[in-house]
Amino acid sequence: MKTYRVAIVGTGGIAAFHASNLAQTDNRAELVGACDVDDARLQAFADQHGIPGRYQSLAELLAEAKPDIVHLCTPPMLHIDQAIECLEAGAHVLSEKPPALSLADFDRLSSAESKGGAQFSCVFQHRFGDASTAARSLIGGGDFGRPLVARCDTLWYRPDEYFDLPWRGTWEAEGGGPTMGHGIHQFDLLLHLLGPWEEVTAIASRQARPTSTEDLSAALLQFENGAAATIINSLLSPRETSDIRIDCEFATIELSHLYGYNSNDWAITPAPGHEEQVSGAWSSQPLERGSGHSAQFLAMYEALDAGLPLPAGADSARQTLELAAAIYASAFTGRPVRRGEIVPGHPFYGGMDGEGRGTRALASTSRS
Ligand SMILES: NC(=O)c1ccc[n+]([C@@H]2O[C@H](COP(=O)([O-])OP(=O)(O)OC[C@H]3O[C@@H](n4cnc5c(N)ncnc54)[C@H](O)[C@@H]3O)[C@@H](O)[C@H]2O)c1
Repeated sequence: MKTYRVAIVGTGGIAAFHASNLAQTDNRAELVGACDVDDARLQAFADQHGIPGRYQSLAELLAEAKPDIVHLCTPPMLHIDQAIECLEAGAHVLSEKPPALSLADFDRLSSAESKGGAQFSCVFQHRFGDASTAARSLIGGGDFGRPLVARCDTLWYRPDEYFDLPWRGTWEAEGGGPTMGHGIHQFDLLLHLLGPWEEVTAIASRQARPTSTEDLSAALLQFENGAAATIINSLLSPRETSDIRIDCEFATIELSHLYGYNSNDWAITPAPGHEEQVSGAWSSQPLERGSGHSAQFLAMYEALDAGLPLPAGADSARQTLELAAAIYASAFTGRPVRRGEIVPGHPFYGGMDGEGRGTRALASTSRS
């Protein structure tokens, strides 16, 4: 099996997770280079993880370290341009979320992907635990039945000081608040489990935090398969939890965790009369591996080995970004938004703030 040459760009908080998770991939990855504009941080990071190639520019890293895969661990506003630079140089990209600040920016990827022959993937590590794979295969099948109703809550707490980092809490640098930056993981998993959404109605407000974006959003979704779901994305919740609950015809599926799960964070409750079929179906699934970055890295290597499209690739990452854009569009226009409606020319295509609509709406309702 091939060992992939990997580089990390941006050596701040999440980069440490990438480095430690790369070390858990059974030697499938060799960390050959790191890049940061902050040289002191770069050197300390590279020393700690034994990385030989150290660069202050992405162009130099690509030319000299020649990585197969580049992990983008930089602030959100840099992801898309750096992704395009890597793809055009022929390096696969694993970008931290959010993949881009707008659908317009994201759509610039497709020509870069076709030019260099390399592929884009977004870090959505919750898709990659065994229990998520099991739930995905059972939802809608004969044992669990049709999904009918769901909820998806990201109830996190971020104090005022959290926003001291210059790129946090602004439309220009982060693209939004908890919808884009925090709940995106959880509703990405909801979409992974339930498939395409059809229509969303949402609200967003700034209740308490010193940001220029929302610190709370709530959405009501209709899915193509008929299921209805609510989504809450909050940074205001002292008892933090990340929850998904899906009620199918014959079983309730529940996941309750915070930043990552093991299989025992999932609970399955059969409907009366369906105990044997539901418990049998769940217990016949492999349920060893939890979620996490290393699980996604390994899935990426397997896809590359087999010459297959990358998991959490551009198409599915775009669907998640489109839902974020639609939540903002609905919240700031007061109308339901249908999937596929936000196209070039739509005010929320070019940015999650909808050409200032978000800023104006939040200013008039802000309680902070
Ligand atoms: N997947 C997850 O669970 C998860 C968790 C936390 C953060 N994130 C995401 O990871 C990304 C980074 O977050 P963080 O908390 O590590 O941020 P951070 O500010 O701690 O680190 C970012 C690093 O990028 C460097 N940088 C800035 N401009 C650069 C450039 N042009 N070239 C190279 N390096 C540059 C900075 O100097 C800094 O060291 C964000 O998009 C964030 O949303 C993901």
